Amino acid sequence: MTLAVCPGSFDPVTMGHLDIITRAASIFDNVIVAILENQAKDHMFSLEERLEMLRVACAHLPNVQVDHFEGLLVDYVRACGAHVVIRGLRAVSDFEFELTMALMNRKLDPSIETMYIMTSMEYSFLSSSIVKEVAGSGGDIHGLVPEPLVERVSARCRRKG
Ligand code: PNS
Repeated sequence: MTLAVCPGSFDPVTMGHLDIITRAASIFDNVIVAILENQAKDHMFSLEERLEMLRVACAHLPNVQVDHFEGLLVDYVRACGAHVVIRGLRAVSDFEFELTMALMNRKLDPSIETMYIMTSMEYSFLSSSIVKEVAGSGGDIHGLVPEPLVERVSARCRRKG
């Protein structure tokens, strides 16, 4: 059985994330989408909200589970019994951070491989930050976040924006 972990902040999950998760789920038998619980970082959505939104977004993908982790990603991946981390790659600007992270994770645990799925063209500009910025100023986020989450994300961003 092949198992991959797809980690991230998902604050909130976007259509770009869902594209990567869907494509990973078509390659691996099982995919765990894992939200980093980082108390130090100021997220717009609580961990519980992000977990719930991801569960809604991935409800149609039977081989995808949603979970969260604290501490080092490699420790979590090992505890899951997985050997593969999946990340999405958009523009060249993602590369430096992703390379640093992949190399550090390989140093920490050489048995874990990080694999990248290139973004689909239509989502290459998309990030959680830009969704929050657009929604915070009253912009339309249909097509940017999974449809069942549009109203919820818009309302929260307008309140905080
Ligand atoms: O969605 P993001 O914010 O780009 O995801 C980054 C994430 C959560 C994958 C990364 O910050 C992470 O794995 N953090 C856990 C801490 C860790 O393992 N650090 C060492 C490798 S850099």
